[in-house]
Amino acid sequence: MAKKVLSGIQPSGSLTLGNYIGAIKNFVKLQREHECYFMVVDLHAITVPQEPAALRENSESVAALYLAAGIDPKIASVYLQSHVPQHAELGWILTTLTAMGELERMTQFKDKSSGKDSVGAGLFVYPSLMAADILVYNADLVPVGEDQKQHLELTRDLAGRFNHRFGDFFTVPEPYIPEVGARIMSLDDGTKKMSKSNPNPGSYIALLDPPDVIRKKISRATTDSGREIVYDPANKPEVSNLMSIYAECSGQSLQQIADQYEGQMYGGFKKNLGELLVATLEPIQERYRDIRSSGELAGILAEGAEKAQTLASQTLAEVKKRMGFLPARG
Ligand code: AMP
Ligand code: TRP
Repeated sequence: MAKKVLSGIQPSGSLTLGNYIGAIKNFVKLQREHECYFMVVDLHAITVPQEPAALRENSESVAALYLAAGIDPKIASVYLQSHVPQHAELGWILTTLTAMGELERMTQFKDKSSGKDSVGAGLFVYPSLMAADILVYNADLVPVGEDQKQHLELTRDLAGRFNHRFGDFFTVPEPYIPEVGARIMSLDDGTKKMSKSNPNPGSYIALLDPPDVIRKKISRATTDSGREIVYDPANKPEVSNLMSIYAECSGQSLQQIADQYEGQMYGGFKKNLGELLVATLEPIQERYRDIRSSGELAGILAEGAEKAQTLASQTLAEVKKRMGFLPARG
């Protein structure tokens, strides 16, 4: 049966291979069978300071990358979070149902706030807004990378809490986390997540990196002093990470890759991986440039927002009625 699927990515920098493998690839897979909503979560991005020009550019860029990677706006809704005001409204309502202690436990908040002199309150209540993103459509399934699991659990708790207090209404959503590739690691440290906010660009592959940069970053990626190409994340995190990337881009299993490279050196494996990545990303980059220059993006985003708003406003009306808010008109 067709389910409702929702996910989002923040326009807070250039998207990485981690975003592609952990999230976007699955968006593309799910769109054929399900009713899908894919957002650029600009309201989440401003939980840390953003330059207005950079926010504009990154918002357009993420939306164009969704389409370039294969999301079809004829079957999935693609739009900006800020174009559907019901997210912020339900976000506020859910904030009032969330305990401080629940937010204090969030590892993403702890990571992003650690060592900072001043931390915005928005960063703290970020998970309640994410819960609103999901619940405002009564989504069944949320495709995300491993790092979002805890936020999804809070979303499920909030749905249950609302249902308990105000009567069964929200769908309790399920996470959809890939088995391989849910956590692509940094190229310079196999124990850290690949992230667009890492100050060392050599630690990530940006989806828009030119082919030669991709080749160079892979050839310089950290490995270990051993020589075996085997999947063993505990003892060989860097090699295992490169194997996961290889598997995701080639469609081969980890075992097939280990068999293929048995007895071979890291150098040859990395060279082939670099070529594989270029072959995966070049067509996406070409489509990206076409979409950016076509002038069609604004229309697609407006259409997506309109469809999303129809559903979101129905949810919000029902939520407010159940909670005791008076209707604006008779
Ligand atoms: P963000 O860039 O934090 O907005 O993340 C957008 C989506 O990409 C979320 O579903 C993340 O879980 C996913 N994601 C981000 N980085 C990685 C990574 N290194 N490996 C796998 N998935 C990731
Ligand atoms: N918090 C997510 C991240 O940092 C982004 C996000 C916001 C999201 N709202 C969402 C993901 C709703 C899935 C569903 O990656």
